[in-house]
Amino acid sequence: MPVRVTSRPGPNCEPHLVRASAAMEDVLVLAKRVAGGDAKVLISGESGVGKDLVARYIHAHSLRAHKRFVAVNCAALTDTLLESELFGHVRGSFTGAYRDKVGRLELADQGTIFLDEVGEMSVRMQALLLRFLENGEIQPVGADIPRTRLNARVIAATNRNLSELVASGRFREDLLYRIQVAHIHVPALRHRREDIRPLVEHTVAQAGRDIRFSDEAWLAFESYQWPGNVRELQNVVEQLIWMSGTEVIGVQHFPPALQMTANRALPVRERRRQLADDLYSGLVEGKFSFWDQIHKMFLDRDITRHDLREVIRRGLTTTCGSYRGLVALFGMDGRDYKRFFNFIAAHDCGVNARPYRVRKPLRAELTATPPIAASPITKSSAGVARALRDGAA
Ligand SMILES: Nc1ncnc2c1ncn2[C@@H]1O[C@H](COP(=O)(O)OP(=O)(O)OP(=O)(O)O)[C@@H](O)[C@H]1O
Ligand SMILES: [Mg+2]
Repeated sequence: MPVRVTSRPGPNCEPHLVRASAAMEDVLVLAKRVAGGDAKVLISGESGVGKDLVARYIHAHSLRAHKRFVAVNCAALTDTLLESELFGHVRGSFTGAYRDKVGRLELADQGTIFLDEVGEMSVRMQALLLRFLENGEIQPVGADIPRTRLNARVIAATNRNLSELVASGRFREDLLYRIQVAHIHVPALRHRREDIRPLVEHTVAQAGRDIRFSDEAWLAFESYQWPGNVRELQNVVEQLIWMSGTEVIGVQHFPPALQMTANRALPVRERRRQLADDLYSGLVEGKFSFWDQIHKMFLDRDITRHDLREVIRRGLTTTCGSYRGLVALFGMDGRDYKRFFNFIAAHDCGVNARPYRVRKPLRAELTATPPIAASPITKSSAGVARALRDGAA
């Protein structure tokens, strides 16, 4: 549901906000300070950082805490529906309007209206919102004249850079000034790593399961970048709790992106060896797809050219220098042979196959992790092409 009346009037609606970092403490000190007045607040921050919770926290600490907190997601509705949801409509104003409907702004009278994802509003809706902010009047869809003056405290949130939207003409500057009397920025989780451990513990406690994490697992949690912030952390922890079927969770239970992070936390030499081993066995055992995971990780720079060469070396050791065998070993379709060649040549990841052509591969070796073999690495693209030709057995 895009529109939620998220709290009934009452004193007990303060959200539980886990925080241990000074950055988050600062956010809440500021939130408490602005809660004391009626100033409009803009909360910014990446998706999943907790903007929604901070908005509720402000409401819960304001004099309006006994009134409603009404949330509207501005991105989830078409223009017409959003207008009707915010301002209400009169019976017969459009097809399906069988009766008068009270808008969310009116429902939030004396309380707080939370306009989530305000940066997604159309220019037309921005104009209507600005009119409300300037005089507190609302005009329901289909009504001839504005009919109510309201007193709803406005809190807006966005994960967009509104100044950039203003510069590109997609957001009204006058509206930005109106909604941003007070501005609270919630930092990304990777910029307040002290919060990670308590958030993980909080999620585990909520699930009511008695599980623990290994030291490496904690290291991975704390080193990972968390692009999806707290929401991603909660999803990962919940998945681990319910899917791993063990009381002590280690990095081997983690999703691939976190496993990579765990490897990066090791000393460089050890990390590289471990990473190449994991990538190789993941490919050979079919846990990773070359194109969906390894290729993507390389393009996203999660793994380096060196890592990829190490994986290819392991493959060539197993296939005794056969690139065709390696394509099959890595779970690719035979038709991907050329594509694979072009990819490693274009990115200078080729390995000379000749030193690996010692003997025919044994069947049993196809699933075993081979020892690391030292071999010359081709330097130029011409060298790569030659190495690949040599290896095209
Ligand atoms: N400090 C925190 N303590 C406990 N839970 C948190 C905290 N921060 C975020 N969460 C949880 O993380 C999830 C995402 O938080 P929230 O919905 O507030 O993020 P958001 O910034 O509004 O995201 P979006 O931009 O996608 O709307 C929610 O389940 C929320 O309860
Ligand atoms: Mg939100």
